[in-house]
Amino acid sequence: MKEHIRVLKTEEEVDAKIQEIGDRISKEYAGKTVHLVCVLKGGSFFMCELAKRITVPVTLDFMSVSSYGGDTRSSGIVKIVKDLDEPLKDRDVLVVEDIVDSGRTLSYLMELLKNRGPASLKLCTLLDKPDRRVVDVKVDYTGFEIPDVFVVGYGLDYDQKYRNLPYIGAVEFED
Ligand code: IMP
Ligand code: MG
Repeated sequence: MKEHIRVLKTEEEVDAKIQEIGDRISKEYAGKTVHLVCVLKGGSFFMCELAKRITVPVTLDFMSVSSYGGDTRSSGIVKIVKDLDEPLKDRDVLVVEDIVDSGRTLSYLMELLKNRGPASLKLCTLLDKPDRRVVDVKVDYTGFEIPDVFVVGYGLDYDQKYRNLPYIGAVEFED
């Protein structure tokens, strides 16, 4: 089966939305340093674009997770493939993700990070599929709420492809 990518959010729309979130973060973290935690690989494009638009001091760290079952979307047990380089103690931590789907990955991850004693811990996601939620997660900053379609681009992949698309596309199959 060959797939076709239908544009869901254009590059201009995504850029404008990231600017909007960046402005909010700059205001709400005034006087603080925001420590961005990027969840690899999907969150990386969004995090870079967001960081460029934040005007308060920013520090960065990265982590990579996968589920024990191999499929991040069916298991709630998250394995840390690459942990953060630095402690979170007393930092104002903002986790940056590409998408919240079932919520399993993020609910597990946020709990784990909370136990490291940050001064504050918030979550920012470019995309949210609320219809798919199985586990409750508190999202502090959302780019776009989208319907239950499989999306790619801006860091999101289908079989490791399409992460580099500068827009958000829905994957459609044709035969
Ligand atoms: P969760 O179901 O909320 O735990 O989401 C787990 C992960 O599944 C996300 O961080 C993404 O990496 C991936 N994912 C969920 N929905 C999509 C999608 O539409 N396109 C690409 N990856 C997705
Ligand atoms: Mg992800």
